[in-house]
Amino acid sequence: MEKIFIGGDHAAIEMKNAAIAYLRNTFRREIIDVGAYDGERVDYPDYAAKVCEEVLKDKEAFGILICGTGIGMSIAANKHKGVRAALARNSYEARMAREHNDANVLCLGARTIGLGIMESVLDSWVSASFEGGRHSARLKKIAELEDKCFS
Ligand code: RB5
Repeated sequence: MEKIFIGGDHAAIEMKNAAIAYLRNTFRREIIDVGAYDGERVDYPDYAAKVCEEVLKDKEAFGILICGTGIGMSIAANKHKGVRAALARNSYEARMAREHNDANVLCLGARTIGLGIMESVLDSWVSASFEGGRHSARLKKIAELEDKCFS
C-alpha cells in the first residue's frame, strides 16, 4: 500500500487533513489528495468517483473516502466495477476489510468517529494484508456479480 488516493466532501475536511498528516508522518506513504479542499458544500459521489477512477487505473493504489457518515461514500464507491469499498468504524473492521475482503477503498465517517479512532483504523488498514485462500473464491463470486449487474 504505497500510494493512497484520498478524497472527501465538505464534512470531511478536518478528518481528511488529519488522515493525510498521519499517513505521511507515521507510515511514509505517498498520499494524493483529490479534494474537496475547503468547506464549500459539495456532492460526495463526485469525490468517490475521483478516487475510485484513480484506484482502478493503478492496481497497486488504494483509496480513502470520507464523508459525514462514510455511508454515502461507500455506496457511491461500490458502484465502480473493481472497487471493494468498506466502511470501518473501528480497527477490527478495518483489519477484516483487508484480510477477508481485500478492500481497496476505506470509507470513514467524519461525524461518527473521532480522530483517535481514525488513527487506529488507519493503523489496522495500512498494516493488514489480504489472506487469500478461501476468501479469494468469495471475491471471485463478487466479481461475477459485478459482471452480471454492472455490464
Ligand atoms: C453531507 O451533509 C452528508 O450527507 C455526507 O457527508 C454523508 O454523510 C453522506 O453519506
